[in-house]
Amino acid sequence: MSWVIKPGGFLRGEINVPGDKSVTQRAYIFAAMASGTSRIVAPLRAEDTDNTLAAVRSLGLVIDDKVQEVFISGEGAQSFTEPEDVIDLGNSGTGARLMAGLLAACPFFSVLTGDASLRRRPMARVAEPLRLMGAVIDGRADGTLLPLTIRGGGLKGINYISPVASAQVKSSVFIAALNADGKTTFTEPALSRDHTERMLAAMGVHISTEGNTLAIEGGQVPKAATIRVPGDISSAAFFLVAGTVMEGSDVVVRNVGVNPTRTGILQLLEAMGARISVTPLEGEGEPMADIRVEGTDTLKGISIPEEWIPAIIDELPLAAVLAAAADGVTELRGASELRVKESDRISSTVQMLSRPVSKWRN
Ligand code: S3P
Repeated sequence: MSWVIKPGGFLRGEINVPGDKSVTQRAYIFAAMASGTSRIVAPLRAEDTDNTLAAVRSLGLVIDDKVQEVFISGEGAQSFTEPEDVIDLGNSGTGARLMAGLLAACPFFSVLTGDASLRRRPMARVAEPLRLMGAVIDGRADGTLLPLTIRGGGLKGINYISPVASAQVKSSVFIAALNADGKTTFTEPALSRDHTERMLAAMGVHISTEGNTLAIEGGQVPKAATIRVPGDISSAAFFLVAGTVMEGSDVVVRNVGVNPTRTGILQLLEAMGARISVTPLEGEGEPMADIRVEGTDTLKGISIPEEWIPAIIDELPLAAVLAAAADGVTELRGASELRVKESDRISSTVQMLSRPVSKWRN
């Protein structure tokens, strides 16, 4: 199949975007750990999240999949059964790292793998703390790359200082910590997205904060809950940026998740002079809003503060598009994590933006 896309003039209209991937992944895994039946409303249906759902199913969970509503019934992690086959998370880094935490808690043998890109991505960042807690984990390249073999169970709480601000690492350790003896503390260099903390709290788990350290007591079983998945700000960002850089545009994206640990792109749009308005919506769970942008040709380049990076990490390639459309230089530092995503997002962004326009036109 081939597509021909011709440059358009402007964007006008209202849209809803698919459900948030980070929230959907966590909803499936935490529902599996909970006692009772959880209901997940408007999950993202995509390869990554469907692979996580299949991974959860392979542990013996009862799942009623009605596509836009998924019901997962569990009796806590103690009731899981040993998977019969290798668990393949495809392209999903979040799925693989969070599942590693869950499997580390289980007193049986499992093997975790993924596609060629995921098999190149660093797994030591989760394998290391999980080993310190007592899981036996091995894998390629001295136990740092998938496939990983995991023999879990019998975990103890640890005090862990993470070298990276990564919500995947934080979540993986928390999932294991809930099933460990004693208390676990986790400190990260900057606050990464906090969907895990919010969702676990809504499921009755107590997490305390001591400075920039989070602490969680082992032995807590999350209570089943209804989890509504907001629209993914990472998907909304494409329309917000396109609507901003094309004069004459007027775009409204409805029901977008605006958790402050994810809204770096909104902060950036505002700081560069975009015409943007955010209307918060009432409701429980993750905060949501309708977001409107109108096109402008007066964007200004800025120096992006390093402390904004965790909240804009997945949208930085789009920040580069804004920078290209703005007057003056936009500078950004401290984003080396982009090199170890599904692809090296720094070199692919540079390559795309430096391609001669004539190449785009064929
Ligand atoms: C995610 C965390 C981020 C992000 C990824 C999803 C998550 O990665 O880039 O797309 O759902 O926890 P890191 O945890 O590696 O920073």
